[in-house]
Amino acid sequence: MIVPAVLSFSHALVRQAIDEGGIAVDATTGNGHDTQFLAECVGPAGKVYAFDIQQEALARTKQRLNERGIANRVALIHAGHHEMDQYLPVEIRGKLQAVMFNLGYLPHGDPTVITRPETTLPALETATVWLTPGGVLSVVLYTGHPGGPEEAEHVLQWAQSLPPKTFQVMHYQLLNRQQAPSLVLVEKRKQAA
Ligand SMILES: C[S@@+](CC[C@H](N)C(=O)[O-])C[C@H]1O[C@@H](n2cnc3c(N)ncnc32)[C@H](O)[C@@H]1O
Repeated sequence: MIVPAVLSFSHALVRQAIDEGGIAVDATTGNGHDTQFLAECVGPAGKVYAFDIQQEALARTKQRLNERGIANRVALIHAGHHEMDQYLPVEIRGKLQAVMFNLGYLPHGDPTVITRPETTLPALETATVWLTPGGVLSVVLYTGHPGGPEEAEHVLQWAQSLPPKTFQVMHYQLLNRQQAPSLVLVEKRKQAA
């Protein structure tokens, strides 16, 4: 297929921002697919910080990483992403090459535990500060669960308000599939435009 699926498109774009030995954050660890992806991108010399409010998600991710022998590249953090700056080492502020958000609820978990705009938006704002110039922030939005459309609307409004001198922002969406996920990608410019 020529038209990419949202998740694989996000990976294709994020991969371009990450070097071997780089540093990245998974802000919504869930079942660990994105954490694994980031850990593979940064390689053995890199580091991924992965946040989730559910111990169950972190346990599933730990198992996934252990099975692949890459757990030592990842710090699993049982905390909300809006508390990111209390958990990340201060020396990596402004050095993150990628931050990934995959909003909504944990697949095969409790569907009532969802990401919420009141914590998602502060976390996105913090992420833009911790990104390195040339780094990217990816946000996958879902509208098929209660609260999803409102959260997606908040994120889109926030993304549209980012200053174009500092950030390039895109929104990728399949137009003919109702409730398909969509992708917001924010690139922090290397030089102000
Ligand atoms: C759609 S899942 C993420 C899927 C994951 N990226 C993957 O690759 O499997 C969303 C996750 O966000 C988590 N979550 C909800 N609110 C959160 C918050 N404030 N901070 C961090 N994680 C949160 C949920 O517990 C859930 O595991």
